[in-house]
Amino acid sequence: MCGIIGYIGSRQATPILIGGLRKLEYRGYDSAGVSVIDPASGGPSRVIRCRGKLANLEEKLTREPAAGTVGIGHTRWATHGRPSDENSHPHKAGPISVIHNGIIENHLALRAELVTAGAKFSSETDTEIFAHLVEHALIAGAPDLTTAVRRSLAKVHGSFAFVVMSDKEPGVLVAAKNSSPLVVGLGDGENYVASDVTAILAETRKVIFMEEGEMVTVTRDGVTITDFEGNARTREPKMITWSAVQAEKGGYKHYMLKEIHEQPRAVADTLVGRINLEADDVSLDGIELDVSKIKRIIFIACGTSYHASMVGEHLVEAMARIPTEVDLASEFRYRDPILGPGDLVVAVSQSGETLDTMEAIREAKRKGAQVFAISNVIEASIPRLADYAFYTHAGPEIGVASTKAFTTQLIAITLLAIHLGRRTGTLSKERARELLGELVALPNKMRDIVESGAQIQAIARRYGNANGFLFLGRGSQYPIALEGALKLKEISYIHAEGYAAGEMKHGPIALIDEHLPVVVLVPRGPSYEKTVSNLAEVRARQGKVIAIATRGDNEIGGHSDEVIVIPDTALELQPILTVLPMQLLSYYVADFKGTDIDQPRNLAKSVSVE
Ligand code: M6R
Repeated sequence: MCGIIGYIGSRQATPILIGGLRKLEYRGYDSAGVSVIDPASGGPSRVIRCRGKLANLEEKLTREPAAGTVGIGHTRWATHGRPSDENSHPHKAGPISVIHNGIIENHLALRAELVTAGAKFSSETDTEIFAHLVEHALIAGAPDLTTAVRRSLAKVHGSFAFVVMSDKEPGVLVAAKNSSPLVVGLGDGENYVASDVTAILAETRKVIFMEEGEMVTVTRDGVTITDFEGNARTREPKMITWSAVQAEKGGYKHYMLKEIHEQPRAVADTLVGRINLEADDVSLDGIELDVSKIKRIIFIACGTSYHASMVGEHLVEAMARIPTEVDLASEFRYRDPILGPGDLVVAVSQSGETLDTMEAIREAKRKGAQVFAISNVIEASIPRLADYAFYTHAGPEIGVASTKAFTTQLIAITLLAIHLGRRTGTLSKERARELLGELVALPNKMRDIVESGAQIQAIARRYGNANGFLFLGRGSQYPIALEGALKLKEISYIHAEGYAAGEMKHGPIALIDEHLPVVVLVPRGPSYEKTVSNLAEVRARQGKVIAIATRGDNEIGGHSDEVIVIPDTALELQPILTVLPMQLLSYYVADFKGTDIDQPRNLAKSVSVE
């Protein structure tokens, strides 16, 4: 997830671009850059870009100013290629400058074609490909920048918002959208494009939100919107009444709610380029694990990432039949763990900076184990320490409570389990094909749940005054019960316990009375009947049951006070769906209580202390 902005008008572009990028820095912050052109002088555009936070770019611009009244700017959150000056946007090919938010899925094939055609690449990014495609389209006879962009769009697959500028046609900016956000801002004798309305709110409140498959040619005096085939599209501009702070949250009340709603998109991004439906296999970005050398897998992680790892234990054992354990990173090295070269340690961390997890990795490496890191942040300390780094591509998570980081971790772990299972031979081609099909279908099913927030909000209001909650689940739903309890505790400050449903009778059953809401994860599966029995035990003691069940389960309503349904999916993927109502329930309970949801007391987003 990157931030993009473009300006065309009569004022100096650079201060406007930097002002916009400041508002976008939350979207990405590992490098930034601008390309600015002065149409009056007809000179080539000047690209200034560098690794690091926006402040580095601002400092560089004081030494190397970029003057001109047309420009594009970008703040990067790396997906392809490490954060570096060369990989920073804008990317240039001849007269063409490009900025991009998203992922070009077929970038490897296109790169090979362009190299054969003589293109010289100066970065590792997928984005630079688009600059070369547009340049080549112009060389091949496209009459103008808009046509060249249109012809290039026909070649790329994936999610993108591009803004393109040409030294030879400095009076236009051309932008296009597919699955990544893009908004056009309308001014008086000047116009804007941006990934986010926040970036241009200080300049204009009159905007057009671009829709999927649309492109726009922007001049000082107007905008022309078409689809990718060139058919005209018309749309009335909207006046934005949100405050700047509301706009940063995309109109949602909190970052956490925005991030809950971003999950279908985030999960789709985690899957991009990693599923091979022809081979019934997955690609771990070129990582090939030699399963003949792996005798045991040990997941290490903290907090929410630990819960994802617990699900991982189920997935890896079921699919790859390799003995698997899970350890809390904060405990791991204090018990002098027995480790050696036959062990693959999988370190899971959203931030990639959790000190406990880093220390656990150091211990594992000292003892000769191989380390595979799953991180959301590219080039963070944890992936850099590991032998293999695999990224979740969820985009920056601002709310302290992990939501999209968690579901994308589950996807990354599922891909790892399929990779291992195909190589040990314990996951058949047929089952792999079914699972891959289910993975592809998952974002729409997730959308279905996150959009049913009104029912969960009503439930949250009914039970939001409770003094405590119990969460129960069996099998891979047990980690989701733990995650539900953690989520509720951290943002609503209500005490909550997560338990394996079968353990309830060994203690927590004493807590149950008519005041205790008990959330029971009971999707269809091998543990269904047993979990229904636990649920009946709760009801027999007047506990209030909130069941999370599979759509079409007509039995469960008779045993529960509330039922929240999820769509059906493969057993292995159910945790990715059942956790969504947990997140929404916690969010709405906390909202009902009026707590500081995005920055709950005593917590930090990145825990870099032991
Ligand atoms: O960045 P990490 O995934 O390594 O962080 C681990 C925990 O600190 C984190 O998951 C924490 O539990 C979250 N606040 C949970 O929402």
